[in-house]
Formats: sequence, structure tokens, C-alpha cells
Amino acid sequence: MAGKAPLCAFFLLLLSTSAAAIRPARSVAATARRAALENGLGRTPQMGWNSWNHFHCKINEEIIREIADAMVDNGLAKLGYEYINIDDCWAAYDRDSQGNLAANASTFPSGIPALANYVHGKGLKLGIYGDAGSRTCSKLMPGSLGYEDKDAKTFASWGVDYLKYDNCNNQGISPQLRYNTMSKALLNSGRNIFFSLCEWGVDDPGTWAGGVGNSWRTTGDIKDTWASMTAIADKNDKWASYAGPGGWNDPDMLEVGNGGMTTEEYRSHFSIWALVKAPLLIGCDIRSMSKETKEILSNENVIAVNQDELGVQGHKVQQDGDQEVWAGPLSGGKIAIVLWNRGSTKASITASWSSIGLNASTVADAHDLWTDGVISSVQGELNETVDSHACKMYVVTPK
Ligand SMILES: *[C@@H]1O[C@H](CO)[C@@H](O)[C@H](O)[C@H]1NC(C)=O
Ligand SMILES: *[C@@H]1O[C@H](CO)[C@@H](O)[C@H](O)[C@H]1NC(C)=O
Ligand SMILES: *[C@@H]1O[C@H](CO)[C@@H](O)[C@H](O)[C@H]1NC(C)=O
Repeated sequence: MAGKAPLCAFFLLLLSTSAAAIRPARSVAATARRAALENGLGRTPQMGWNSWNHFHCKINEEIIREIADAMVDNGLAKLGYEYINIDDCWAAYDRDSQGNLAANASTFPSGIPALANYVHGKGLKLGIYGDAGSRTCSKLMPGSLGYEDKDAKTFASWGVDYLKYDNCNNQGISPQLRYNTMSKALLNSGRNIFFSLCEWGVDDPGTWAGGVGNSWRTTGDIKDTWASMTAIADKNDKWASYAGPGGWNDPDMLEVGNGGMTTEEYRSHFSIWALVKAPLLIGCDIRSMSKETKEILSNENVIAVNQDELGVQGHKVQQDGDQEVWAGPLSGGKIAIVLWNRGSTKASITASWSSIGLNASTVADAHDLWTDGVISSVQGELNETVDSHACKMYVVTPK
């Protein structure tokens, strides 16, 4: 699998990218490779919440239930956020007498099936966490290496809808082998389970994970800082052409609302994640969000770019020092653009039509997704002033 096909796809990609700055479509080979994971999930990037970025190991079933409540009560569920994902530290230190994973009896006393029922009762889905090694990253719970079939069947019997599968303590065994084994186990588990590979991008998962999972991490863990977020955006960008319906690049979960960045930095984080078709997995405590956090996470225009049915990952199309233009095609001939000022002072940024894939003579309307204003009849380029560490995001509709 690692031999001929990806090389072939690589040359097709080179051919298809030379003509225009925006890649019009993915190669046939890439599409065929992705179709190999036949669980029908992830036709658009997954949306939801995950416990790690805010709570780390300090989780329990009450928090998870309250998060599910908050997801519905504050209106995020109806915007498309559907997965409630429990990260590391939910299980007991040891397997039970039959060798099965068991929930930690003091933090999850009602058990995972009861929690799945509760979450399903809210119209949401439950995600869980495992590891393709001997123990998880916290080392507080067992890994699934060698127990893939058993654990996949356990998750299925519990009503779990999603598995994030980490890469710690992996005994040096090839990621392709370890992740493929769990992928097959999930397909045979009797339940349709979204498979999120958390392999940290170490073995270029874009080139092989399409047939294995619905998303794959392309980087190490995000930190709640501007430096980490921007570095991860750049690392993930390299793999843009490998993403598409059914399988997405994952630059890690959102930090929006956790306090380490300014509102404009978080707005940039959310805009870029949406444009690059990243999973939109909220990582803050949505039971107590600020007005600004809620406004960012609830922007329907930006979410619509992420969930656009064309499913083509936007990428960096222009860079002039700290001033960048990121863009990607949407269905209906529209184009999404982010003007991103990564510098420390206000600057003007010009997106030229040639770099976003339009004919210079094309006249278009630009819908500002954050102010909801419309700039009518622009031709050739869009030139706007952008504050330090801020962005402006548009959907451009040719007339
Ligand atoms: C359950 O979780 C608590 C709190 O994190 C921890 O102290 C305890 O050791 C865990 N119990 C088992 C059996 O893993
Ligand atoms: C660009 O527009 C000009 C003028 O309308 C037209 O002649 C030309 O064919 C267009 N080029 C493309 C690539 O659409
Ligand atoms: C963009 O607009 C600014 C003024 O807002 C101007 O100084 C600058 O020259 C313009 N850039 C381009 C490429 O048109």
C-alpha cells in the first residue's frame, strides 16, 4: 500500500497543481484511495467537542453530561456540533477479569453505556479515546495494541460513535499496521464508528490514511498560544491536497475560549481551521463561555465554509512577509478567502484574482463573513486593511 499508488497520486497532484494556484479538484487516485474506508462517515469535517484542551485528565461523567446539556442549550448543537468526545483518562487503570476495558468506577460510576444513552437522548453522539500502543499517553489506562477486536466490539456494544486513537507507547511498530488493524476492527464491530487517527503526522498519514480513517492528525498537539496555532496551520497546509469527503487532515482541536490568545487571534484560528476543512472540535468549557467565544464558535457563515459539500481544503496562496492570503474553492463556483495579518502592526493585504483562481476581469461580490457586510462588484483584487494578528474572511461570488 505504501508503494506505487501514492507515488502515482503524487505525480497526478503535481500535474493538477501546476495550472492554477487553487487546486481545482483532487486526483482520481486520491479519491479511490479514500473510498477504501467504507463507513460513509465524515463527508464533511466532524464538528463537536473534546475534553482534552480544557480539562486534560480531570474529567468525570457529570462534566460530560453537562457539556452535552450546554451544547444543546446554548444553540451550538443546531449549528452542527454533534460529537461529545471524551479524551484520555476515562478508563480504569487495568482491564477487567475478562480482559475488557472498563470505565473508571470513581469518575464514571454509571458507565459508558449510560453516558452514551444520555448523549444520544440529546440528539448528540458520543466519542471515546483509545491508544494504538500498550498504554495511553497519560499511562493511566490500557492501550488497545493487541486488543483491537475486543476493544472495537466493546465500544460498539456501549453505543460509542467515534474513536480518537492516539499513538503513545507504540512499541515501535509501524503506524500503518497499528492503525489499519483498528480500522478493520471498527468496520467489523457491528457499529458505524467514526475513526480519528491521532498519529501526530509522524509517518505522513495524508499519504496512506485515506483508506484507514475519517481524519488524521498532521501535527503534534496544539497549545493555547499564537505561536503554536500558527505553526500548526503551516504544517498542516502541506497536506492540503490529500483531504476530501470521508477523510480530513486534522491540525488538532480548537483552543478558542481557553484564554491563551486574544479574541482576534482566536477569530483567526477559527477562520483558518474552517477554511482548511479541519475538524471543528471545540476545546473550551462551553458551560461557561464568554460572549466573544460564543460569537466566534457560532458564526454560521464560517461554519458553512467548513461544511461546504465540495470538501476541498483551502490553502495558503499568497505570502508577503507576515501578510498572507489563504483561499479555497466552494461549491457553486464560489471561493472562500482569508486575509491573515500575522505581523505585529496593522497592514493592508491584497488578494489578487489570479492567486485565488479567478480571471482578472471577473467581477464578484465579496461577503465579509465576520461583519456580514458585502463589498459589491470587485474586480481583479480585494485590498483590505487588517489589524495585527487578525483576519478578514470572505466568500467571493463571481457575477
Ligand atoms: C480513577 O480515577 C481517579 C481520579 O483520576 C484515580 O485517582 C484512580 O486511580 C482511578 N482508578 C482506577 C481504578 O484507575
Ligand atoms: C478571462 O476573461 C476574458 C475576457 O472576458 C476572456 O476572453 C478569457 O477567455 C477569460 N479567461 C478565462 C481563463 O476564463
Ligand atoms: C491597498 O490599499 C491601501 C490603502 O488602503 C494602499 O495604500 C495600497 O497601495 C493598496 N494596495 C494595492 C496593491 O492596491
